[in-house]
Amino acid sequence: MTWRRAVWCYVSMTSSGESLEAGAEALSTTWSRDLGLRLPVVGAPMGGVAGGRLAAAVSACGGLGMIGMGSAGSVVALRRELGRLDGFAGPFGIGLVDWVFAAEPELLEVAVAAKPALISVSFGTDLSWASRVRESGIRTATQVYTVDDGRRAADAGIDVLVARGMEGGGHGAPEMATLPLLDAVLGAVTVPVLAAGGIGSPASLAAVLAAGASGAWLGTRLAACEESLLSSGARAAMLAARGTDTILTRAFDVGMGLPWPSRFPLRALRNEFADRWTGREDELPDDETAREALGAGIVRDDPNLMPVDAGQGVGLVTAVQPAAQVLETLCDGAARILNR
Ligand SMILES: Cc1cc2nc3c(=O)[nH]c(=O)nc-3n(C[C@H](O)[C@H](O)[C@H](O)COP(=O)(O)O)c2cc1C
Repeated sequence: MTWRRAVWCYVSMTSSGESLEAGAEALSTTWSRDLGLRLPVVGAPMGGVAGGRLAAAVSACGGLGMIGMGSAGSVVALRRELGRLDGFAGPFGIGLVDWVFAAEPELLEVAVAAKPALISVSFGTDLSWASRVRESGIRTATQVYTVDDGRRAADAGIDVLVARGMEGGGHGAPEMATLPLLDAVLGAVTVPVLAAGGIGSPASLAAVLAAGASGAWLGTRLAACEESLLSSGARAAMLAARGTDTILTRAFDVGMGLPWPSRFPLRALRNEFADRWTGREDELPDDETAREALGAGIVRDDPNLMPVDAGQGVGLVTAVQPAAQVLETLCDGAARILNR
């Protein structure tokens, strides 16, 4: 098996300058080795949360940190976050949202010019961006939710698929849970497949690697890390939340007037606004008071009103830690489980 390899040992510096030493049986896969990664772990591109600092911290540990440009992504924001990589020289990735870059095509050009190891574009059906990215020698990824999505992406020449289960945080098509989706996609394509959705513990990381994933794409588990851009209100709400506290909703997107395709609702923490408007989203465009209250809640950083994207693994997020510490716990623990 690919994870049964020589003892793996690395030393890296956490953002606080503390020396981190970890030894474990290697988890590496053919895909992670191809990309020059020590760990088969990707820090998901989380808009407004995974900026340059978090991406650099994940990559410094041997994973692949990604800068996320979400609904509010822009060329200005991408340039700012690239600056926050702070001279980090190793591999990193950039993730874009299909309809956001369609409105500002220069985003893809700026992303390509930054020479990341990986560019992902998710939440669209037009995969023609992939050839432009591959021409520049950069690998491509996209999130898929069904076997048909996976086949379409593989046929379009996407290098690595992200099988994203419905328990995951943020936007996504709630079609299948992570493990059945991973099984199905692995059976349908020959390109490497990463697993995403609800992976936040040594056991869940070990499970997807043992099931054949080429790596894990982690969102929620890294969102509250010390290096993330998460606001203090959202961070406190995440730390307090249990796994049963999330909801799938379009209420925030409709309330904010964002053109998210209805196939991709948001998984976020339940709150007053989501409980009141989920299932009644069609009424929101006519309710200016509700929309203004949402806008004011976002400005005030009020988790009772604003969206706090989080998946069902949120109960595992109980402390603000450096990314290096989170990854060390996950990877050492997963290696121990797989060696049992
Ligand atoms: C706070 C947050 C923001 C996210 N923003 C984006 C984004 O901008 N682009 C994207 O492709 N995926 C985004 N996602 C989804 C992740 O790529 C991934 O599918 C998800 O986090 C995996 O599930 P997990 O959260 O259980 O790890 C986001 C997820 C979270 C938690």
